[in-house]
Amino acid sequence: MTEKNRQFLLAARPVGMVKETDFEYREVPVPEPAEGEVLIRTTYLSLDPSMRGQMENRADYVAPLQIGDVMRAGGVGRIVRSRNPAFPEDAQVSGTFGMQDYVVSDGRNVPFRVVDGALDPTLVLGVLGGTGMTAFFGLLDLGRPQPGETVVVSGAAGATGSVAGQIAKLKGCRVIGIAGSDAKCRWLTGELGFDAAINYRTEDVGAALDRHCPRGIDIYFDNVGGEILDLCLARIANNARVVLCGGISRYNATGPIPGPKNYFNLVFRRARMEGFIVLDYAARFPEAIAEMRRWIDAGQLKQQVTVIEGFRELPRALIRLFEGYNTGKLMVQTT
Ligand SMILES: NC(=O)c1ccc[n+]([C@@H]2O[C@H](COP(=O)([O-])OP(=O)(O)OC[C@H]3O[C@@H](n4cnc5c(N)ncnc54)[C@H](OP(=O)(O)O)[C@@H]3O)[C@@H](O)[C@H]2O)c1
Repeated sequence: MTEKNRQFLLAARPVGMVKETDFEYREVPVPEPAEGEVLIRTTYLSLDPSMRGQMENRADYVAPLQIGDVMRAGGVGRIVRSRNPAFPEDAQVSGTFGMQDYVVSDGRNVPFRVVDGALDPTLVLGVLGGTGMTAFFGLLDLGRPQPGETVVVSGAAGATGSVAGQIAKLKGCRVIGIAGSDAKCRWLTGELGFDAAINYRTEDVGAALDRHCPRGIDIYFDNVGGEILDLCLARIANNARVVLCGGISRYNATGPIPGPKNYFNLVFRRARMEGFIVLDYAARFPEAIAEMRRWIDAGQLKQQVTVIEGFRELPRALIRLFEGYNTGKLMVQTT
């Protein structure tokens, strides 16, 4: 345990690719919990593409982040001191704890949920955490997969995409993943059972989609936006569902961002394109977690994590997320 509370603050609004100088490191005393509060020691902190937009206050679905604030980050931790009988010491908790070793909460000012203490914390932050929930509700509620349908997932080797693709396989679909390296593509087909994978950095994505989706795309689960979204829109089948989960190709872009050229194919194909924010499904997370745990226990859903060790690595880890360093869920182990 460190005696100081290490923190990264938001030092500057990023322009273009996020930089280490957009963060400021500092050490402050470990906070004291008051009556009714608990002291949480973070163990793993999550790196999420949405952190880039939050640094710029680009999204209005979360509270604004000001320069000098502790950088926002989801995490897992343990209660190391409790002055609230509802939350016992040593309980494992998850919440938006920020880039810091310690956080004090009364359960409301920094909301957290108590999770099964026996669960591997990387699972709590990964498949059973925000990105797992995103894959579950995005694919099942918006995508509504039917057996035999063709599902294309971009960002397929990442935290959300790898789970969305596996759930689509569980629902009896043919699944084609798009990812940024041959190793990731081999992992998708070899380990996760995807039917095919396309390396968007080296292959002609349009030609590969034509080859792998001869009857068109029934569900496109979009994590990246940009050109890949356009290529998929051009190949949707009748009554297709385009699930707009994310658009990472635009998060570090500067200047005007071109819209999809092929959106009008939605009309010809009587198709639907719909976005969502996973936070809106919070009340249904327990239902998803129970189902996902069944799949994990049955060996039908695999989790892959990329863990970077060391609190001081947090800013660099966020940059690495955008460089495609991770396979599966990227997190930093802080203890
Ligand atoms: N709607 C929601 O509520 C919600 C919730 C969570 C996440 N999301 C979205 O879901 C997506 C995935 O998030 P995640 O947390 O699971 O991250 P992730 O997929 O684990 O990591 C990001 C991955 O994106 C790929 N990437 C980076 N730059 C790219 C680019 N320019 N074009 C194509 N791919 C690029 C990289 O892999 P490669 O090697 O393949 O390039 C990288 O590993 C993001 O768009 C995120 O914003 C949405």
